[in-house]
Amino acid sequence: MNQTEPTAPILKVSGLRTYFFTGEGVTKAVDGVDFEVHRGEVLGIVGESGCGKSVTALSILRLVANPPGRIVDGAVHFQGRDLLQLSDREMRAVRGKKISMVFQDPLASLNPVLRVGYQLAEVFRYHLGLDRVKSLAESVKMLRATEIPSPAERVRNYPHEMSGGMRQRAMIAMALACQPALMIADEPTTALDVTVQAQVLKLMKEICRARDTAMILITHDMGVIANMCKRVAVMYAGRVVEYADVFTLFKQPAHPYTEGLLKSLPRLGAKANRLESIEGQPPMLNNLPPGCAYGPRCRYVQDRCRQEAPPLTEVKPGHEVRCYFPLSAVSG
Ligand SMILES: Nc1ncnc2c1ncn2[C@@H]1O[C@H](COP(=O)(O)OP(=O)(O)O)[C@@H](O)[C@H]1O
Ligand SMILES: [Mg+2]
Repeated sequence: MNQTEPTAPILKVSGLRTYFFTGEGVTKAVDGVDFEVHRGEVLGIVGESGCGKSVTALSILRLVANPPGRIVDGAVHFQGRDLLQLSDREMRAVRGKKISMVFQDPLASLNPVLRVGYQLAEVFRYHLGLDRVKSLAESVKMLRATEIPSPAERVRNYPHEMSGGMRQRAMIAMALACQPALMIADEPTTALDVTVQAQVLKLMKEICRARDTAMILITHDMGVIANMCKRVAVMYAGRVVEYADVFTLFKQPAHPYTEGLLKSLPRLGAKANRLESIEGQPPMLNNLPPGCAYGPRCRYVQDRCRQEAPPLTEVKPGHEVRCYFPLSAVSG
């Protein structure tokens, strides 16, 4: 494999904490998250629903609704600047142009009464100052890059005239229009059926590779992680519980939660009834148990885990785990 020596990361999230202040108390949706993304690489963030993945993504772009949400601590260094320190105006110049985002539901992000081509052209007009004719031509080019058939006609479609897969391709075209350094994709294919999902993921990977765009790919699906990512952050209850390259994570998961996620992944040839899921529910983030948040569901739980929360610790270079009794240490 040709490993290019990692340079300084383009994005470095450190000690990020985003809390929601509501009538029911403080929900610590993101509670001390750290990770890095390098140029052109795909970082996966995986975890069950409600563990803080989307709030992490929204925090990076400072799109968390305030109130009730607030980024209470941390830093998000991007191309040498802390995004959390920028003015709103400076932040608007980053969004969509340098960092773009693709959401799960393209219908919610597209304006239903405007033609798709117009919405795409808007991006070129706003960020690059292109005129009408040029921005429309660029839009057609961008749609072609996402392998939408007859792009010159498709630009005239309204969102409802496109299939779900095609709409998501149009969203990806929009996200990549300004050649951002980083694209954040939050469950981009979860709403699509399986074959379309595979096509769209393949497209995203190819197009990012061709343009040297880094990606943060958020998913609850370990299968997607395996296909797409280089490094992975596993999140549980607002924290990263395991951080490793994808090979290590699948071959030698060190956190019991990661092991649980992998066991619930269907394998080719395995009998469907052998599929295990993790028992219990993720905890409420406004009422965490003392000690390890995963403790109540963990099959290896010990007394120490119930008393104090474990820190994120390096078990091997580049492999970090938030557990007092990491599995690789147990199984050798
Ligand atoms: N607008 C909000 N108001 C209050 N709590 C919120 C809000 N948005 C998210 N949360 C809380 O933050 C937690 C993490 O949510 P989220 O990041 O969306 O999870 P996921 O990992 O499924 O993307 C959830 O438990 C949710 O209760
Ligand atoms: Mg989410």
